Amino acid sequence: MSKRVGVLTGGGDCPGLNAVIRAVARRSLDRGYDVVGVRAGWRGLVEGRLEPLGRREISGLLPRGGTILGTSRTNPYKLEGGVDRVLAHFHEEGLDALVAIGGEDTLGVAAKLHAEHDFPVVGVPKTIDNDLSATDYTFGFDTAVSICTEAIDRLHTTAESHNRVMVVEVMGRHTGWIAVMSGIAGGADVILIPEHPITVEQACGEIRRRHEAGKDFSIVVVSEGYELTYDSGERRQVAQETAVDEFGHVRLGGIGHELAREIEEQTGFETRVTVLGHIQRGGSPTARDRVLATRFGLKAADLVHEGRFGLMAALHGDTIVDVSLAEATAKLKTVPDDWYAVAKAFIG
Ligand code: F6P
Repeated sequence: MSKRVGVLTGGGDCPGLNAVIRAVARRSLDRGYDVVGVRAGWRGLVEGRLEPLGRREISGLLPRGGTILGTSRTNPYKLEGGVDRVLAHFHEEGLDALVAIGGEDTLGVAAKLHAEHDFPVVGVPKTIDNDLSATDYTFGFDTAVSICTEAIDRLHTTAESHNRVMVVEVMGRHTGWIAVMSGIAGGADVILIPEHPITVEQACGEIRRRHEAGKDFSIVVVSEGYELTYDSGERRQVAQETAVDEFGHVRLGGIGHELAREIEEQTGFETRVTVLGHIQRGGSPTARDRVLATRFGLKAADLVHEGRFGLMAALHGDTIVDVSLAEATAKLKTVPDDWYAVAKAFIG
């Protein structure tokens, strides 16, 4: 029996989204199914904005960054009648299944719709932050880490030439995955993340010790979600604004500058800041992310074919498996002690 399959991308964009769309569509079209793209995440289902996804639309997508469907941080649960409109448009469009590609927020909505309305949805884990539970990796993370690592490499040569401390602020709203991985890969001297917050005084101590031991530069990687933490026990989040989005998140950013000011004041070393920001999310996915996104997309299409909903494609070791959406969105995956220990071995 033929099916009509919808695909949406929600939340912050991420390299590899188009590769997932291509894989879901390609496998579903090969089965003789109709494939429909939902515009701008959940907003597209609230407003009924859909478009056909045929072989022509998915051609050339594999290396393309961003998402051809557009994305948004719309939460139907926060809109008057939002959930009813999602369900109504889904049925009016004759859809049999939806593949939702997103992070904790987008998939959180998918999990809730499935639990409350038996909504036929399958999830694909996306986020450069790599903070989704029940999967070892999300696609997009490898690309972001590669971009940050290259930036750290470049900053090394200019830091050495000028005897400077370089602070690099990277993304990661709740977790320090990008900071830890790129810090290890780039040989950072201090790494500050939310899960293992060393204090500002300790960080300055490490930098001072390095310089006393003959090094005249230091690279400090800080995750945007790190709270300024002091020996006194005081902690302070740095954000661009206090307003929250529909999922309750503030817009982070700015910790790098505050930290640099502290380091310069406490150590007397000239300090500069680089905020990588959305550069980490832009451009073409790495080969690893293209392959992971493709495998996730095929798995999601197979789950739809088998009529198995409320599940998410996930990576366990090197195997693609399915896990429950409820489990995947129940809590965030933070950086465990053993990963941080690898980074810590090179601090100072
Ligand atoms: O969740 C992915 C992420 O890139 C976070 O690391 C970051 O805090 C946030 O999205 C930025 O969101 P926006 O694109 O709305 O500025």
